[in-house]
Amino acid sequence: MEACQSLVGMVPTAVQKLGRVREVEQVARGTYRVRVECPELARQIIPGQFFMVRDPRVTDPLLGRPFALLDTYEDSVGQPAGIDFGFVTVGKMTNLMAQWSVGDPVELWGPLGNGFPVPDSRRLFLVAGGIGQTPFRAVAREALKLHSFGRNVTQPPSGVTLCYGARTKEHLAFLDWFQLPNLNVQISTDDGSFGRKGYVSQLLDAAYETDAPPEAIYCCGPEPMMAAVAKVAAQRGTPCWLSLETPMACGFGICFSCVTRVRMDDGSWDYRRTCVEGPIFEAEKLCL
Ligand SMILES: Cc1cc2nc3c(=O)[nH]c(=O)nc-3n(C[C@H](O)[C@H](O)[C@H](O)COP(=O)(O)OP(=O)(O)OC[C@H]3O[C@@H](n4cnc5c(N)ncnc54)[C@H](O)[C@@H]3O)c2cc1C
Ligand code: FES
Repeated sequence: MEACQSLVGMVPTAVQKLGRVREVEQVARGTYRVRVECPELARQIIPGQFFMVRDPRVTDPLLGRPFALLDTYEDSVGQPAGIDFGFVTVGKMTNLMAQWSVGDPVELWGPLGNGFPVPDSRRLFLVAGGIGQTPFRAVAREALKLHSFGRNVTQPPSGVTLCYGARTKEHLAFLDWFQLPNLNVQISTDDGSFGRKGYVSQLLDAAYETDAPPEAIYCCGPEPMMAAVAKVAAQRGTPCWLSLETPMACGFGICFSCVTRVRMDDGSWDYRRTCVEGPIFEAEKLCL
């Protein structure tokens, strides 16, 4: 591991660190997992936080890109050793990352953002669309007390369910990573090629008709899907948090490229920076 330096005054706990690629694998159509060795950052991060990721060997793209923690992994003696990311290829950086090889250097800035609230005794539903399932492996492991990220989960949820929707069976990624003890996994695909046919918000709707309905919702995915989930949650009076994937330039609060509109107590609205005041917001506060 190489140099480490504070992000001067902006995000006190964030550091810049050079890690090394340990594994790269394709896990679904256009979707990859990359494992980066970086023990110091693996010790600090909590579920829902993210890193700005850069390839220090290139100047295009020059700026890092934000990626959520998929999970941390441990070394042979059980100590945090690094970070796994899951990503879908959409442009320059993600296509570059898909070409990375073992030993390649990776510049990481973080951990950044607020993370999901510590799960409590309520029945927790994790609702994911597209690549939005990535934060939920770590959330599920923490909520099920399978792993500690340094936070005290004093009253774990009475149940944890992942509702995950993708376009087709070929787009479903990390299903094996979600085979966790006591995690209830429900799948939908738009075309019905796997799981229930339809949108993931319909899985959530159906959950309210059971004897174990959602009591708290964490959601991540494309904005229209999150808006649909927020609407269901509001109609049912269920507290809901959304993790936004707003494009970002700096990742630590100075450029204002990542702002989103939030409701104020007096009925007006204002901007908040997703990178430092998010990426996780209470759904009822957002103007989606
Ligand atoms: C907090 C946070 C966590 C994220 N976590 C993940 C993750 O775990 N896995 C993952 O695959 N992606 C994640 N993203 C999105 C990821 O950052 C973008 O996909 C990435 O920056 C694209 O970089 P690129 O250089 O490949 O694409 P670019 O060349 O920058 O863009 C290619 C195309 O994608 C569009 N685009 C770029 N970024 C976004 C975005 N955020 N939302 C919608 N459209 C976009 C551009 O407008 C353009 O049309 C996250 C975003 C945020 C803010
Ligand atoms: S990305 Fe620069 S302020 Fe948020």
